[in-house]
Amino acid sequence: MDHFQYRDGRLAAEEVDLTALADQIGTPFYCYSTATLERHFQVFDAALQGLDHTVCYAVKANSNLAVIATLARQGAGADVVSGGELTQVLKAGVAPEKVVFSGVGKTAAEMAQAIDAGIAQMNVESEPELALLAMVARDKGARVPVAIRINPDVDAKTHEKITTGRAENKFGIDWDRAPDIYARARDLDGIDASGIAVHIGSQLTDLTPYRDAYGRLAQVTRDLRAQGHDIRRLDLGGGLGIPYADPAEAVSAPPPEDYGALVRDMVGGLDCHVTVEPGRLIAGNAGILVTRVLYVKDGATRRFVIVDAAMNDLLRPTLYDAYHAVVSVREPAAGESTQPVDVVGPVCETGDTFGEERHLPAVMPGDLLAIRSAGAYGAVMASTYNGRPLVPEVLVSGGRHAVVRRRVEAEEMMGFDAMAPWLTDGGAG
Ligand code: LLP
Repeated sequence: MDHFQYRDGRLAAEEVDLTALADQIGTPFYCYSTATLERHFQVFDAALQGLDHTVCYAVKANSNLAVIATLARQGAGADVVSGGELTQVLKAGVAPEKVVFSGVGKTAAEMAQAIDAGIAQMNVESEPELALLAMVARDKGARVPVAIRINPDVDAKTHEKITTGRAENKFGIDWDRAPDIYARARDLDGIDASGIAVHIGSQLTDLTPYRDAYGRLAQVTRDLRAQGHDIRRLDLGGGLGIPYADPAEAVSAPPPEDYGALVRDMVGGLDCHVTVEPGRLIAGNAGILVTRVLYVKDGATRRFVIVDAAMNDLLRPTLYDAYHAVVSVREPAAGESTQPVDVVGPVCETGDTFGEERHLPAVMPGDLLAIRSAGAYGAVMASTYNGRPLVPEVLVSGGRHAVVRRRVEAEEMMGFDAMAPWLTDGGAG
């Protein structure tokens, strides 16, 4: 069910009126629905029932502490990719034994931090990384549970910038080199290489690449076991796609139940603990970006609706040509006519466009719009480009709301800069 619906003619997040919220805290702002986060987690977790598994939410999708804490209370673990994310998830209450650490370029300091925290698993992506981890572990007298990420050379058939499982991508080690690396790992004191990881990309709308990748994973598991390796844990990555309501999208996102059935089918018989790392699926449609119309401008061939949010707040349309539905916060009357408009931000780039030829009811300056499916890879990818401060994030639960990240003021942003000493003497030196 959709928790962003019209109530009394205005869009609400659960039971919270977004118009009143916008008046109270100002625009733009992100707004997340607790009920949606919880439901997505529960549906995905239930899809894997019968398997010994942990759902490790991929925090990179939305790392707001309140969002992580909401999911931790549902029983979620976390997939982190930096020392910063590790700090965030522990602070938000995720149990360390439910944390996996992914990523192609971990530093020695991050490895040490993860070992000290006692996390469940390090996902290693190269031989040099394995060697460094072994050194860090040895210095600490630790033995680290490791999954080596294999690159299955499978095309995930998604946007090229978020495809990760092809041989030419930087991720993992070639699957056919697994025997060499596991043999090497066996000789390293600090390493317990009892897991295998795979992640082939993000926003997958077809299950076939998963079938291919997990088939390869199962094969590698059997081969390594035949060579005497005690493989007990499989990390299946994330990547399951979500509907963005794009009318041009020929295929819709596969239901989690179908994904769960596929997982059972491909790896269920291997007697391994299974980790999955969904990010977008949990957070994507749990969030919107609320923005106010500044101007309506008629160009030579198009009408532009200029809003106060921009590409620095939500980068996905600019970076991936991603489609995000844009809706009016005022409920259109039944049969109300619409007109095609381009919804654009104030940043000085043509790429600062949220949507082209979108059919919206007539809008005026001061009206509110909501950009949907913005809960994942929205606020986390924001920048302060064009001197635009980061925008607030609000979490709602039923009729309650909380500002879970306050608005940053321009003066505070400037506080990170410092003047060079030779510029502070009146310019004389
Ligand atoms: N596990 C690993 C190792 C990953 O690299 C990722 C995402 C995930 C899990 C979670 O994938 P998800 O379930 O969210 O698809 N900024 C891009 C998406 C980047 C995904 C990076 N890795 C976007 O906005 O589309």
